[in-house]
Amino acid sequence: MERIGVAMTSPVSSYLEEEVEGRFKVFKLWKHPVNSEQAQSIRAVICSTQSGADANLIDSFPALEIVATFSVGVDKIDLKKCMEKGIRVTNTPDVLTDDVADAAIGLAIGVCRRICECDRFVRSGSWPKREFGLATKFSGKSVGIIGLGRIGSAIAKRAEAFGCPISYFSRTEKQHHKGYYKYFPTVLDLAANSQIMFVTCALTEETKHIVNRQVIDALGPNGILINVARGAHVDEPELVSALLEGRLGGAGLDVFGNEPHVPQQLLHLQNTILLPHVGSDTIDTNIAMADLVIANLEAHFRNDPLITPVS
Ligand code: DGY
Repeated sequence: MERIGVAMTSPVSSYLEEEVEGRFKVFKLWKHPVNSEQAQSIRAVICSTQSGADANLIDSFPALEIVATFSVGVDKIDLKKCMEKGIRVTNTPDVLTDDVADAAIGLAIGVCRRICECDRFVRSGSWPKREFGLATKFSGKSVGIIGLGRIGSAIAKRAEAFGCPISYFSRTEKQHHKGYYKYFPTVLDLAANSQIMFVTCALTEETKHIVNRQVIDALGPNGILINVARGAHVDEPELVSALLEGRLGGAGLDVFGNEPHVPQQLLHLQNTILLPHVGSDTIDTNIAMADLVIANLEAHFRNDPLITPVS
């Protein structure tokens, strides 16, 4: 029997590629464009935060039934187009929550304690020549979280263990934690009351540039911004200016507005840690995400309920 055609849009995981190849007829779009006969045979797309699935891609596969993204974020998928065409969408929530929260806390501690700077200091041979300046304490700092969903809650839990009082802003999940963590009705209020602010919410039209100049200034010259969500949540030129001018104390960034490009000026700043969007990139989680992508595709083609559908 002819195998079901699945198009993969980017090389996110060799484990995923091998597992998908064992089950489906795979077209790796970053290696070879497909001809029209092959395009007709494609019934599923596997995409990622790198490549996504835009309207052009979706329209180029007339038999497309499902888009499965190797990510929790779905901002790179044209959801409206999928809805119009009755194409189902799945993502990979839950399995990556701990890793992204670990990365966020790692960034926060790293910026406070100047871990990467210390490492550069030692490697450059400077230690015998001079002393390294003092860092900032992380434990007990007031933490503000934008978006108290799965990842935001996991960060809160970790930060609590460091004795950090937790506040949050959330457009949708206020009720879940009401009375436990302190809720602020605006991001501006949250920033004004936080020493370290984490961005964890989903990227939508409403949350684009949710961290703007006012918010950055409210966080202030001793404040630290950690972004493990999407670059577009932050007004990046404003962030760069604030860091250069000392209006913001530091930043830990796993995501950028135009990945994989990073604003040049950030490269020279000591008070920032820059990661190449690796929040969920551990071997364990890569495998769990791949298994979930495949389980969703198999459920779809068996006519079973999807495991993690995007509504
Ligand atoms: C995702 O999966 O959407 C995140 O970007 C992981 O870091």
